[in-house]
Amino acid sequence: MIEKISMLRAAALDKIKQAASSGEVEELRVRLLGKKGELTEMLKDLKNMAIEERKQFGQEANELKNELTGFLEAKFSELSANDVKKSLSSGSSFDISLPGTQFKLGSLHPVTIVQKEIERIFTGMGFNIVDGPEAEEEFYNFEALNIPKHHPARDMQDTYWLENGSLLRTHTSPCQVRAMQKYGAPLKVIAPGRCFRNESTDASHENTFFQLEGMMIDKNVSIANLIYVMKLLLSEVFNRDVKIRLRPGFFPFVEPGFELDLNCMICGGKGCPTCKHSGWIELLPCGMVHPNVLRYGGIDPEEYTGFAFGLGLTRLAMMKYGISDIRVLNSGDLRAMEQFSVR
Ligand code: FA5
Repeated sequence: MIEKISMLRAAALDKIKQAASSGEVEELRVRLLGKKGELTEMLKDLKNMAIEERKQFGQEANELKNELTGFLEAKFSELSANDVKKSLSSGSSFDISLPGTQFKLGSLHPVTIVQKEIERIFTGMGFNIVDGPEAEEEFYNFEALNIPKHHPARDMQDTYWLENGSLLRTHTSPCQVRAMQKYGAPLKVIAPGRCFRNESTDASHENTFFQLEGMMIDKNVSIANLIYVMKLLLSEVFNRDVKIRLRPGFFPFVEPGFELDLNCMICGGKGCPTCKHSGWIELLPCGMVHPNVLRYGGIDPEEYTGFAFGLGLTRLAMMKYGISDIRVLNSGDLRAMEQFSVR
């Protein structure tokens, strides 16, 4: 047996010496030391040997294995280095100075960036973030917001109805009642989310867009609180004073109700297709929560008052980033989205 090992050593070292490429060395490694390699096969005979012989043979075989591994590794690195040198000198297309493959990282959508910013502002004021279903029950989207069946206010929000009688929510306001029912008063919540309206699209209208609902309910909450929070929100988002106008607005779920418009940042108020040549963008309707809505939410309007607002999040992103057409935001056009490049 010992003789067999010596013969294998001599033959193997000879072959390793003669190997001309790193590929050949790898083949040799498999042939000698692999699962079915010559040395491995030899070791299978161990079990038939007497103890003394087995000890000696085992030791010799192990030494040979280590020796061959060392030689194979040395030869492999020598030949690999040669391969690179050869390839470089032969003027082949292998150019180590070429840049590597670039992996593209995605970036956050502008609406997401603004949403996160507003979440930061409101959670800093002790508000919680809540959620609601996009496929909503008619009750929460309309009735509980003081818009009974056949009320003309339903026509203001052209609705996608589902076959099971539910609908795609037309605004984030259903989250108001869901939050009141779940958490009671006092309450400070915001609810960002996607809304759907069966509308023709133009520069400032999409059939799928984002709103961010806000609601604060406590004892003695007044319009002064509402206006303070609206001003703070806008000054934090834009980081400068912005021109706004507040006018009366009708929504059955608030009383009194306001429309808060932003001076159009695309044209500076001169008039353009984005603001429909009015110089103003409807952005942030708001008001004091109607007593009926508080009752639907299980809150006593004699004890508590509150304000609510429904920010047009997609439009806010347009104003913040100077995007003149809302359709760009749903286009999936990466060239447009990448400009904002927040990861
Ligand atoms: C509402 O949806 C009310 N739920 C807002 C509200 C909440 C009022 C709480 C009072 C208290 P309105 O339909 O005006 O209101 O929409 C709110 C904002 O969403 C608009 O000012 C606008 O910025 C945005 N918006 C509405 N329709 C679209 C649309 N088709 N495309 C893009 N943004 C829209």
